[in-house]
Amino acid sequence: MAGGIPTSRFVSKDYPGKLTAYVLFTCIIAATGGLIFGYDIGISGGVTSMDSFLEKFFPSVYHQEIEDTSTNQYCKFDSQLLTVFTSSLYLAALLASILASTVTKLLGRKVSMLTGGIVFLLGAAINGAAKNVAMLIIGRILLGIGVGFANQSVPVYLSEMAPARFRGMLNMCFQLMITIGILCANLVNYGANKIEGGWGWRVSLGLAALPAAIISIGSLFLPDTPNSLVDRGQPEAALKMLRRIRGTDDVKEEYDDLVVASQESKKITHPWSNILKRKYRAQLTMAIMIPLFQQLTGINVIEFYAPVLFKTIGFGNNASLLSAVIIGLVNVCATFVSIFTVDKVGRRALFLQGGTQMLICQLIVGTMIAIKFGTSGVGEIPKVYAVFLVLFICIYVAGFAWSWGPLGWLVPSEIFPLEIRSAGQAINVSVNMLFTFGIAQAFLAMLCHLKFGLFYFFAGWVVIMTAFIAFLLPETKNVPIEEMVLVWKAHWFWGRFIADEDVHVGAVEMANGKPKGVNQA
Ligand code: BGC
Repeated sequence: MAGGIPTSRFVSKDYPGKLTAYVLFTCIIAATGGLIFGYDIGISGGVTSMDSFLEKFFPSVYHQEIEDTSTNQYCKFDSQLLTVFTSSLYLAALLASILASTVTKLLGRKVSMLTGGIVFLLGAAINGAAKNVAMLIIGRILLGIGVGFANQSVPVYLSEMAPARFRGMLNMCFQLMITIGILCANLVNYGANKIEGGWGWRVSLGLAALPAAIISIGSLFLPDTPNSLVDRGQPEAALKMLRRIRGTDDVKEEYDDLVVASQESKKITHPWSNILKRKYRAQLTMAIMIPLFQQLTGINVIEFYAPVLFKTIGFGNNASLLSAVIIGLVNVCATFVSIFTVDKVGRRALFLQGGTQMLICQLIVGTMIAIKFGTSGVGEIPKVYAVFLVLFICIYVAGFAWSWGPLGWLVPSEIFPLEIRSAGQAINVSVNMLFTFGIAQAFLAMLCHLKFGLFYFFAGWVVIMTAFIAFLLPETKNVPIEEMVLVWKAHWFWGRFIADEDVHVGAVEMANGKPKGVNQA
């Protein structure tokens, strides 16, 4: 680094301003965008296990399921048709997030959120009123487009609105809403399943309109972020907004940095080809690996198949649905742990602790299943044993809920410079959706082949991802979002990809004596 910028002495800035009620309010409203994603994750598994739904739309699947008498618990009946129906949403979301990145950049974060809400609302209405499979699928595609728009824009919105010191906390409200959405869906399924007359599934699917209405109406009242306003040529509105959300007139330094970031951003006409440049190698790697790893924790095996899994180990219908509700509750509660600690202990500590906890639980669950079902898949599980199994699954879910769950959305949304932020977030959403789709699609076949080893398979991935974080992810807590390049520049590995002239010096503040809020990488 001779002659270069002494990166080890970078400090993160601490702009004046506080956590205002206004910023808190806007972030909570925007975070409700997570409800639609969560509701969908929670609802589809339940609906596709309702007999009346299957009989109406997938009669061949229904009859095959009734005739399935296999005793091998690993290789239960599996319909690719049904899983394609469920996971078509994730493919639609994948494509929509790419389109959303352009809308978010050119028209603002708020327009994307509104679009997401309205399209999802339409999808919910079509699904609730569905008369045939075509309506179901069109509805699902619209839901997917809604999720793609919301997941692309909401995390970015939250990270830009939040003061750096509270960014983790506010951004994680998105994950909190996802978990609340899942829990509500579990409860709705539980109730809808009891409706006589075979139309309970309409209630489950139609009620998706509620979270969609919340984010649609909410987003009408949301302001756009100062970052986006500056970037879209409205400097005065941006300054006014910054003063309002920070609760002080002393925002010059932060505003100047937004302007510098926007000037950098203006030099770039093609964010998609630009993101491939050497200097963005770290961010691009994270945008791909973090969502990929998030899905390889195996969380959605639990989210999508928990009731099936519990039935398999001998729980009755009600007990299975109830256990899913318990897991949903653990998921919500454990998310609060990360909300209140992420800006204090940092992202890395949560990643490493949560990863270790998930790993231990996966090994225990895999071994417990191996002991009872062996490789033949035939066996029975005593009640006490089953209770312990659910307990370890809950501890695993808690580990996810305060690590890879919220951080999988937070970290990618805070590491990109403005010029490639929208494109970067679209990559994050696309990779996430692609692997959500892949795991939903492959799970039953994998269980049949890998048997209890499936849990060891995911455990192996958790080891890899935890090592990845330990070595390659620098700490980003409390670093202002438009200053993030300094963190990468200071990193032992990623620093080599960033030339000194790639660091906009206007934003650099050197340490003088005792640094404040330094995140030495
Ligand atoms: C993940 C979802 C998962 C959910 C569980 C989210 O962060 O992206 O795939 O189902 O967490 O709470």
